[in-house]
Amino acid sequence: MIIAIDGPAASGKGTLGKLIADRFGLAHLDTGLLYRAVARDVRRKGGALDDAGTATAAARELDPATLDDPELRAPGLGESASIVAGIAPVRAALLQFQRDFARRPPGAVLDGRDIGTVVCPDADVKIYVTASPEVRARRRYLEKTGRGEAATYESVLEDIRRRDERDSSRDAAPMRRAADAFLLDTSNLDIEAAFNTAVGVILGKAGQRGS
Ligand code: CDP
Repeated sequence: MIIAIDGPAASGKGTLGKLIADRFGLAHLDTGLLYRAVARDVRRKGGALDDAGTATAAARELDPATLDDPELRAPGLGESASIVAGIAPVRAALLQFQRDFARRPPGAVLDGRDIGTVVCPDADVKIYVTASPEVRARRRYLEKTGRGEAATYESVLEDIRRRDERDSSRDAAPMRRAADAFLLDTSNLDIEAAFNTAVGVILGKAGQRGS
């Protein structure tokens, strides 16, 4: 079974993806980490994030063993990731890894921006997780300050708005809901309620498939 979860920054898709993977005994890939890792490697080489040559080389040379690097959550790396993610050859270089991960038995949950539309258009279940920018900014702000990071609610909201705009307006695999994705708005749902809704959607699909 392949489950595709997409949505904007801080929508809760990562937490949800992990919980769903545990519940159904599937592997989990947070695909945002791939773009964060490419941005990290470009920065390490001293290159410009919008330089297609450097970013594409970094994507081709990416070592998936480094995806658990805590530095990938460093402040500002989400913004940097969104710049390299707009470069089409970077996305192309990361595509096969994601598809191979999804197809390995017994299946996987992948979360990102283009899983239901580009990476796994034939996924068994697609969920598009969203919430208002204000709710997402509040969550991300609490997450950051909880880790001891200095942040203001206003700067987090601004980052979220800028990233939403960049991710949804780019030409290469823009962030959008697949036509057949279930829309899960978590503005007024806590993680438990969101999880229960998602499990209901997945079990409903599995029932339709007769498995
Ligand atoms: O955790 P958060 O939602 O802040 O970000 P993320 O999921 O780690 O993604 C960081 C950036 O990578 C996003 O802003 C996107 O530009 C990019 N990304 C993408 O283009 N496609 C994906 N499948 C996943 C992430």
